[in-house]
Amino acid sequence: MIDKNIIEKFGNLSTPFYYYDLDVLNSTLNTLKKESQNSGFKIHYAIKANANPRILKIISSFGFGADCVSWNEIDAAIKAGFNPSEIVFAGVGKTDKEIEAAINSGIFCFNCESIPEIEVINHLASLQNKNVQIALRINPLIEAHTHKYITTGIEESKFGIHTWELDYVLTRLLTMKNVHLTGIHFHVGSQITRMSVFQSLATHINELQEWFSSRNVDLKIINVGGGLGIDYENPDKPPMFAEYFSLMNDFVDLKPGQELHLEPGRSVVGQCGTLISRVLYIKTGSNTMFAIIDAGMTDLIRPALYQAHHKIENLSSEGNIYRYDVVGPVCESSDTFAKYIELPETRRGDVIAIRSAGAYGESMASRYNLRDLPGAVFSDEL
Ligand code: LLP
Repeated sequence: MIDKNIIEKFGNLSTPFYYYDLDVLNSTLNTLKKESQNSGFKIHYAIKANANPRILKIISSFGFGADCVSWNEIDAAIKAGFNPSEIVFAGVGKTDKEIEAAINSGIFCFNCESIPEIEVINHLASLQNKNVQIALRINPLIEAHTHKYITTGIEESKFGIHTWELDYVLTRLLTMKNVHLTGIHFHVGSQITRMSVFQSLATHINELQEWFSSRNVDLKIINVGGGLGIDYENPDKPPMFAEYFSLMNDFVDLKPGQELHLEPGRSVVGQCGTLISRVLYIKTGSNTMFAIIDAGMTDLIRPALYQAHHKIENLSSEGNIYRYDVVGPVCESSDTFAKYIELPETRRGDVIAIRSAGAYGESMASRYNLRDLPGAVFSDEL
């Protein structure tokens, strides 16, 4: 539960806004730093999870690298203090302009998703007379057991290169003078809560390592991507970094000199963010009561897009428990945060907290219906 006294601190702040608890963020980052140092793993924070400039500055101050999927993300990362030499650039559709700018800024590595993309990177690097590092994003064909929209490593996924293409990739690479194959990269999906999924990935990586060794290809980097889930049912519970890292440690067979890289996003920022909203109206439906709040799917699209569950708390009521559908003001039926959930008696003006919204909340906000973008308030500002 969020401490109800916080409402006084919110005062008349106009809602909706994201409230970021910096104690939670810092404690998550401290654990991540400790666990990554213990295991010797390198972290590239996935900027897409939350690109708020202040959040980025805090994360970069811990010395982590960044995982970006557009030039604008790379630019934001560099401006927030991430070292270009620790930035990886992924994505199936990098434009020429983005590739040129990324080469120019000296990023660490391009995570490449297709042969045509590698050809373009090679060509653009040759124009700048540079040799750039690439990693092959390989489609691991592993079921992530998560929502289908955030499953990325199965047969029909648009992401990554299939293992049956790898022979041809190596042949093509022999002719390319401006790219250097430095590693392999994976990403099975997001919000993964079954550790066995990561174990399957480790087994797959070990098999591929043998394949590359048998062709005398030395790989320096094994990048396992992101995906570690958080507990949306228990917003105060920190992510399971220790368990996740020790699994990687136990099951991925690294060769001498190899580095294991990870790209966590959600697990880093998910639990530090809460979407704060006020109740506009209570409306009686035929079978339900609607709590219509001033936040909508434009502020947090996860429930509408992935049927995602976020815990909802009424911070201003201690009344009897009733059931409500908590909905937003946007003209879409999918603009529903939760159906038939228990809340203390809820009235106009009550302050509602939608928890675990630090990841893919603010970063996915839109201006549909010409709504204002949500604000951001940090715990040390109150
Ligand atoms: N690396 C790659 C290559 C990725 O595609 C992603 C996320 C990550 C790392 C970070 O994954 P994470 O640790 O956050 O699971 N909007 C969706 C999630 C989309 C994830 C896209 N890729 C959601 O709100 O659930």
